[in-house]
Amino acid sequence: MKRALFVCEACGAVHPKWHGRCPDCGEWNRIVEQPQPVATKGPSKASPPKVQSIADWQTAEGARIPSKVEELDRVLGGGFVRASTILLGGDPGIGKSTLLLQAAAGLAQQGVRVLYLAGEESPAQVRMRAERIGALQAQLLLASACEVGEMLAAIDATSPQCVIVDSIQTAHTSELSSAPGSVAQVRECASRLVRAAKAQGFVLALVGHVTKEGAIAGPRVLEHLVDVVLAFEGEKGGAFRILRAVKNRFGAAGEIGVFEMSEEGLIGVREASRWFLAERAAGRPGSVVLACIEGMRPVLVEVQALVAPTVYATPRRAAVGVDPNRLAMLAAVLERRLGISLAEMDIYLNIVGGLKVVEPAADLAVAVAIVSALRNAAVDPNAVCFGEVGLTGEVRPVARAELRIAEAAQLGFGRVVLPAGSLERVRAKARSATIAQPVPVRSLGEAIDALMG
Ligand code: TYD
Ligand code: MG
Repeated sequence: MKRALFVCEACGAVHPKWHGRCPDCGEWNRIVEQPQPVATKGPSKASPPKVQSIADWQTAEGARIPSKVEELDRVLGGGFVRASTILLGGDPGIGKSTLLLQAAAGLAQQGVRVLYLAGEESPAQVRMRAERIGALQAQLLLASACEVGEMLAAIDATSPQCVIVDSIQTAHTSELSSAPGSVAQVRECASRLVRAAKAQGFVLALVGHVTKEGAIAGPRVLEHLVDVVLAFEGEKGGAFRILRAVKNRFGAAGEIGVFEMSEEGLIGVREASRWFLAERAAGRPGSVVLACIEGMRPVLVEVQALVAPTVYATPRRAAVGVDPNRLAMLAAVLERRLGISLAEMDIYLNIVGGLKVVEPAADLAVAVAIVSALRNAAVDPNAVCFGEVGLTGEVRPVARAELRIAEAAQLGFGRVVLPAGSLERVRAKARSATIAQPVPVRSLGEAIDALMG
């Protein structure tokens, strides 16, 4: 016996009855019926779960299997965890299949039984790619499968330790009438696969295409089902890619891995800062180097600003890689606290290389880049900076200053302009003698003087 539920294909919200327009997201004609299997009643004499001291339980560490794709393993927190489920999301063509094929080969090479279920490409195509990127491992099992029942049958027949489903959008079950890729199908197929992974103890990696709204097959649909959500990002046409842990039950969320797409597949970029600064516009107005923290590691990136007289009634504030609200706030601080007139100026801001910086430590670099662009005067090419800017124009301390300073020194920068409050904490920790000269500042004005002389 089945009870129907109604699911919005746009946002994934579940409703008890049908609506023409989703009450949650407001989209029209996206609500579809989804049969809900009635939960099988558990027996009344259920056996209790295993109960023991917290100290006696195993950690996930012992259950980790590194893929030998170093940047991926780092983002995962040290490798795949047995019986865990991973969703890898990203735009079509970004390199999801390539990354997982490389990981699959790395696992197979260590004797891990991996089953790659290809739904988008034929086995011949996957094999050709594997040849090109050196992933042709005899122990790597490959099958073409779209129907989830067939997938589960293939899993039962081969009892793999790792299963890759490429992609969850092509997976479908004949028990639902909706089209493959619809929210109802994606949710049902994913939950069956996740259940199998938990029950049989294999690692499950699902590939998910990101829809134009930027969510994987509609928001909320898959992200709560899986243990780890990885987002693969990068600029279309550009060679490099950032892998980001959006959610990770077994490691730090926010951790990033950096790759370069080459003829031989994805190559890990260990020295990310060197990569980001490779074509830096050093000594040119509007360019500032920011020391930010991505996940656990420091990364130096170039912040560029362009300021030009506006032709609009309301000047434009456009930002790529930083929050536009933050940009608007910093423009207001420059205007009100430093008397720098921006009311008739458009401001364009870009983090070079496609990195998205969310931490407030980017404020100082953004504000200084704007001033540098406006005055058409370069900042000291030998300096990096970081710090949060408050509404009174004060420069506030940020976390992990010592890591940022060390990275700047590593890349040969001579000066680090940083919040005075952060320097005090670094001094208190009194680590090794700092190599890059720290220049503590208390206000945005002081920072501008320090960087632009
Ligand atoms: P792919 O992994 O198929 O992307 P996704 O699965 O996310 O859709 O790879 C996408 C692009 O990468 C493809 O257009 C070609 C390019 N590519 C390379 O440049 N080098 C390579 O070695 C491979 C395998 C792909
Ligand atoms: Mg693909």
